[in-house]
Amino acid sequence: MASPLDIIILAAGKGTRMHSDLPKVLHPIGGRPLLQHVIDSARELGAEQLLTVVGHGADQVKQRITGDDITFVEQTQQLGTGHAVQQALPHLRDRAKVLVLYGDVPLIRAATLEKLVAAVNPQQMALLTMTLADPTGYGRILRGPEGEVQAIVEQKDATEEQRKITETNTGILAATADQLREWLPQLSNNNAQGEYYLTDLIALAHQSGVHIHVEQPEAIQEVEGINNRQQQAALERYYQQQQAERLMAQGVTLMDPARIDCRGTLRTGRDVVIDINCVFEGDVALADGVHIGPNCILKNCTIGAGTRIEANSVIDDAEVAGACTIGPFARLRPGTRLAEGAKIGNFVETKNARIGTGSKVNHLSYIGDTQMGSGVNIGAGTITCNYDGVNKHQTEIADDVFVGSNTALVAPVTLGKASTIGAGSIVTRDVAEGELAIARAKQRNIQGWERPQKT
Ligand code: UD1
Ligand code: CA
Repeated sequence: MASPLDIIILAAGKGTRMHSDLPKVLHPIGGRPLLQHVIDSARELGAEQLLTVVGHGADQVKQRITGDDITFVEQTQQLGTGHAVQQALPHLRDRAKVLVLYGDVPLIRAATLEKLVAAVNPQQMALLTMTLADPTGYGRILRGPEGEVQAIVEQKDATEEQRKITETNTGILAATADQLREWLPQLSNNNAQGEYYLTDLIALAHQSGVHIHVEQPEAIQEVEGINNRQQQAALERYYQQQQAERLMAQGVTLMDPARIDCRGTLRTGRDVVIDINCVFEGDVALADGVHIGPNCILKNCTIGAGTRIEANSVIDDAEVAGACTIGPFARLRPGTRLAEGAKIGNFVETKNARIGTGSKVNHLSYIGDTQMGSGVNIGAGTITCNYDGVNKHQTEIADDVFVGSNTALVAPVTLGKASTIGAGSIVTRDVAEGELAIARAKQRNIQGWERPQKT
């Protein structure tokens, strides 16, 4: 029978160098908290139990990070990485393999971790190391004459000679629950920092005849931790570069792969083109042939095949069918649904509005709480007055309606099929099918009028 997998995630540290009120592990990379990245990778491994060690900002962390598989373990005093893992010991299941991860090391790949877990057995534990040109600050890996790993020495406890070693500890390791239960209580804090070092486990393993299997990550960024905003920014750029690579590998044209930010999941069809400086948040799906101009922000939306979104448009929580054109400078707010071939032009805002097939709202309009049929033309500057100061009201616009420019539609109001509204109208009453409504002051022309003269 395969051993169950328990994962311990250390996330109790303060993150002093972030200079932030937000616990470090809740700071985002790609719009997702650091700790969430770790949890998502842990889940890919099929761990049934994610033991998350929390301390600083524990309440905020518990609120933000949720799941039935997560057990929070409190470490009220941060006495060291060994002490942190010790707090999780009572939760470990018998015969489990245990993997130790860090809430501030977000980009570790499941594939790397799988190799570590696979190497664990009663005679062997596994350690992830990295070789760095400048190993300053990291624990150094001490190897014996046959190259076998014997111990880790922390920077602050290392001799001059040991500090020259370039193979360093990433902190990530895997062992059996039995091994951890045997070794962790033996740790002491008799060292330069007065901490219980998890790293001392390696010497204990070696002394009890357990072999230490070593793996290295494919990319160094997998094991980079975040301690300050500079490191966060650097990993964010790396993460975005990875997203861009993935999109291009799937056939998306990125006008500049260095100028796209993906802070969620972006699904794409064939021959999608994305111009520079676009930001994608939440769940976004772009169907075949979608074209997105520069400086657009798309959040939680689906865009149908062949639709063009021109420069500087913002789309939030909307469903857009195929062959639509949007923008430049359009804003589609939550609850907007565009049917096939609809057109939303510049400086148009929509909210909670259904725009029917082929209908056009081309210039300078606000359309909110509206049901609009197909083939409608909304003139420039048309406003649905949906709010009376207390309640929101609906505007219904049937098929083939023509609304003249600069019209105010005071909701609730219904415009019947193929009705026409004269420009500059303030429409307060329903208009029946085929009727023309004009609601504006009658024009008077005054003959013989003379302009005032300068006195
Ligand atoms: C640790 C390793 C070092 C390794 C480095 C890689 C030890 C003793 N040293 O050093 O060999 O090269 O990571 O980055 O393990 N934490 C807790 N509770 C604690 C202490 C720490 O949850 O009581 C968490 C921190 O929030 C942090 C992580 O564990 O996320 C690492 O702790 P930190 O003190 O930063 O260890 P390093 O000095 O970086
Ligand atoms: Ca650290």
